[in-house]
Amino acid sequence: MRLIRLASLRFVPLLLVLVAAQTALSQSIRFLEDKKLFVLQGGPVSYVFGINERNELQHVYWGGKVVRDADFQPVKSTREWSGLDLSQAYTPQEYAGWGAGLYTEPALKVTWPDGNRDLVLHYESHKIAGDTLSVLLKDISRPIYVELRYTVYPETGLIERQSRIENRGKTPFSIESAQSANWTLPDATGYRLRSLGGRWAGEDQLVETPVKMGMQVLESRRGGTSQQSNPWFALDQDGNTDQEHGDVFFGALGWSGNWRISVEETSMHQVRVTGGYNTFDFAYTLAPGASLETPAFYGGYTSGGIGDASRIMHRFERTKILPDGSGLKTRPVLYNSWEATEFKVDEAGQTALAEKAAAMGIERFVMDDGWFGKRNDDHAGLGDWNVNPAKFPNGLGSLIKKVNSLGMSFGLWVEPEMVNPDSDLYRKHPDWAMHFDGRPRTEGRHQLMLNLAREDVKEYTFHWLDQLVTNNKISFLKWDYNRNFTEPGWPEVPVDQQKKIWVQFTANYYEILDRLRKKHPGLEIESCASGGGRVDLGVLKRTDEVWPSDNTEAFDRLDIQRGFTYAYTPHIMMAWVTDVPNFNGRSVSLQYRFLVAMQGALAVGSNLNKSSDEDLAESKRFVAAYKEIRETVQNGALYRLTPAADTNFIANEYAAEDGKQVAAFAFLHSQQRGYGVSPLHLSGLDEQAVYKIRVIKTPRRSPDGTVGALTDMGTLSGAYLTHHGLDLTLQGDYDSVLYVLEKVAN
Ligand code: GLA
Repeated sequence: MRLIRLASLRFVPLLLVLVAAQTALSQSIRFLEDKKLFVLQGGPVSYVFGINERNELQHVYWGGKVVRDADFQPVKSTREWSGLDLSQAYTPQEYAGWGAGLYTEPALKVTWPDGNRDLVLHYESHKIAGDTLSVLLKDISRPIYVELRYTVYPETGLIERQSRIENRGKTPFSIESAQSANWTLPDATGYRLRSLGGRWAGEDQLVETPVKMGMQVLESRRGGTSQQSNPWFALDQDGNTDQEHGDVFFGALGWSGNWRISVEETSMHQVRVTGGYNTFDFAYTLAPGASLETPAFYGGYTSGGIGDASRIMHRFERTKILPDGSGLKTRPVLYNSWEATEFKVDEAGQTALAEKAAAMGIERFVMDDGWFGKRNDDHAGLGDWNVNPAKFPNGLGSLIKKVNSLGMSFGLWVEPEMVNPDSDLYRKHPDWAMHFDGRPRTEGRHQLMLNLAREDVKEYTFHWLDQLVTNNKISFLKWDYNRNFTEPGWPEVPVDQQKKIWVQFTANYYEILDRLRKKHPGLEIESCASGGGRVDLGVLKRTDEVWPSDNTEAFDRLDIQRGFTYAYTPHIMMAWVTDVPNFNGRSVSLQYRFLVAMQGALAVGSNLNKSSDEDLAESKRFVAAYKEIRETVQNGALYRLTPAADTNFIANEYAAEDGKQVAAFAFLHSQQRGYGVSPLHLSGLDEQAVYKIRVIKTPRRSPDGTVGALTDMGTLSGAYLTHHGLDLTLQGDYDSVLYVLEKVAN
């Protein structure tokens, strides 16, 4: 006994060392003092950088998890290749100031009043607090400090990077480029860049381009996030990856103003991604004592292909970005009046729509544009946010009461940053619209933009929104934004402050959203901008859902939704079923339209007053079927079962987090020469389990001819569904099918 105790005591120090080592390894951020290395670890990802002999922060590694500290050596700057290829240009700095011999994209560029433009940032100190590391950098001689923040998200391995630039001196200086981060990828050639481009009614088109020596820039110069390019990227090695396999590096910026992401391959084949505020027309004067925060730039890595990269983003957005736990709930099924009544809204018409919507199982009724001022078309009224008395003689109160009594919550459309020249607000405050003195004011959709960067405009805007929500039982705002900046002048402030409009406008927009949410807990907000013009991780911190596109035509929408979900979770993706013919003059079946929309947060936007009884009854069944799968669709894991290049046959699978339910959708655009489609191999199933299967098929082939009802189809094993696959019976043009699988036995 005594011997055993003595022996075990002898092992105590070793045990303590082991426990300490284990605790150290389980920490998401460590500093290896002897090697001057920072080791960040989250999920399956390691990210390592160090302090080199020049005292610069130098990147070491980003990729799959490496736990052995001994593998990493202290960093040394890259050697000079020639007098033309200097060490400073090729040393992969974590955050490079433009100065010394830097020829690649800087993270920060400044000009001092004395003309000095040289900036060389060196390590000063650091602090680790939980999952966040702050590293302080300082210029070699001037009092400009940069705090770099790295936050590690242990579940996903995503890293959030942000910088704060501080003037601790006595003179102001001007910032010409303020980026959030430089990301360095493993040295390799043959990278492929994926990004999302598009236009109004054609958002989120997946763009794939090879990365070659030189620079590709993704950006918005429009003042807002934009339809034309979205602040998301993914890089992989073409040929070595597919949907579910291979290394992918990806990231997204959280900023709804002018943004920029550059992807640069140096002449030494190093690939760097730099992102933050757009440098175009950028100038931000930093007064003594002042600081500027850059947007958050999130970066991730997976070895599981672009499919897994998307799923990581989806989970992250739902659990860490969306506000107030919104991403953990499910979205209500919504009705929106826009395509039904456009500007012709009034109490009787909306009440009739609400009654039909409630009977269909809709849970939220949203009245769109047209309820305020002299808003009878898009020429007038924006800015006059008082209820139109001719359309609503009893105010909004009696319509809201009616909607609530039907068991639905009430939502309202607003477009707070805009003004029509034909409005009382503009007649009273023409100077509130963005403009350059003495220059024409370019209209878009007959409207101008208010300069929300102004303190008085911001306060006014917050005030009327607050009043609207305080005085009416409004659960939801659809916040629209239907044009971009033009003539972005701010003549009321000194010239050296005027370009701050690019940053301050968005900062004030965020502030209004934050204050509204704080004052009205429970209020939900949709971000809409003529469709998907304001979708990014900055606005998603303050809104609950987004409108991806004004194009609600189902076949077009399939493609838009596919692009959208590369970066963003289906949880927030509003998808309406609307009347046909729609865009492109196309008419597809009610089933096709529902099955497309059931892949996001379902809504209906048809003119229910004109719908046949049959359509209303079928819609009710689709809504009921959707409610059975919405948790899986909105909060589950999305697998794309068909390649992005295939627009003829598109299939997507959604698997519940607990593995108990799977919903698989498939769509055939057009059949040729009688060929069918191959069986659908499902992903992520438990091969040992048995699944009960129900189906919604095209009526002519559904067992009892009932449109929209889920009908039983027997059982199949997980192994069969994975390896043999589901036999599809899609035929003809615009055919569609939904399979719902329930795990019944292991
Ligand atoms: C924008 C929106 C539409 C609708 C109209 C109203 O185009 O994207 O959904 O709200 O404005 O004017």
